[in-house]
Amino acid sequence: MVMNIEAVTPDFAASVTGVDLRQTLSDDSLSQIKQAMARYGVLIFRDQPLNDDQHAAFTRRFGPIDKGLLLGSQKRKRRLSNADVIDLANVDPEGNVLPAENSRNVSLIANQFWHSDSSFKDPPAKYSILCGIDLPEGGGETEFADQRAAYDALSDALKARIENLIAEHWAFHSRAMLGGSNHTAEEMDALPSVHWPLVHTIPESGRKSLFIGIHTREIAGIPTAEARMLLHELLEQATQRQFVHRHNWQNHDVLMWDNQCTLHRGRPYDLNKLRALRRCTTEVVLENVG
Ligand code: OGA
Ligand code: MN
Repeated sequence: MVMNIEAVTPDFAASVTGVDLRQTLSDDSLSQIKQAMARYGVLIFRDQPLNDDQHAAFTRRFGPIDKGLLLGSQKRKRRLSNADVIDLANVDPEGNVLPAENSRNVSLIANQFWHSDSSFKDPPAKYSILCGIDLPEGGGETEFADQRAAYDALSDALKARIENLIAEHWAFHSRAMLGGSNHTAEEMDALPSVHWPLVHTIPESGRKSLFIGIHTREIAGIPTAEARMLLHELLEQATQRQFVHRHNWQNHDVLMWDNQCTLHRGRPYDLNKLRALRRCTTEVVLENVG
């Protein structure tokens, strides 16, 4: 099989064919995927029916696994046996669709805010690899926003204003926005906030990118109201349609994105319908200097 990478949008999303992600990737295929990730930011692989072990094994080729919020909720009953795979299905442990008002839906609805996975952790997330298992008809698409293109398009004045600013990222800010958290105080204490520059350079491409999203709640040295309005203004600019790619799911699609230079969000769907996806994510690995 010859791997083929074809642009879906000029600079942001590409489709990868001629590869079976269930098999161990050759080093050559791995480096082609990494290069494509550096150039684009979102890759789409159609028709890849991965089981959880294959999904995790593919992900581990790109770095150590990030477990997202699992760190804070280890005591919850898990449906999946592979601890590297994050369950994003609106079902109970027996596989029945949850009542719409179930508190687990709060976490899934929080994914409908623009965000970067695990930006609230140190290290934060690098690549997320999301498998669509069972998608509803109508709604439930996933959107991505190119934070490099968004940065490039900012005015010089705004670029200068944010150049050295540091934002606070907190895992439960999105829950607060939804009217409360379904997490215990102990779980919340286990994930204190972290601080990242608002603008950073992506090592693989050398391009500057915004690093924002729903997990940001403060900016160091700026009063809260002013900071929140600046974050809001940046988010508005960074998610204009020209920077956004929308993915319409088919079962067994696999999407891969770089959380350091993209934001993403799920779109609303009928909460009474099954929507099942599974995600594996890698951590940012700092380059060994010297
Ligand atoms: C995720 C996520 C959005 C969606 O998997 O990290 O945010 O559409 N998913 O389910
Ligand atoms: Mn996400």
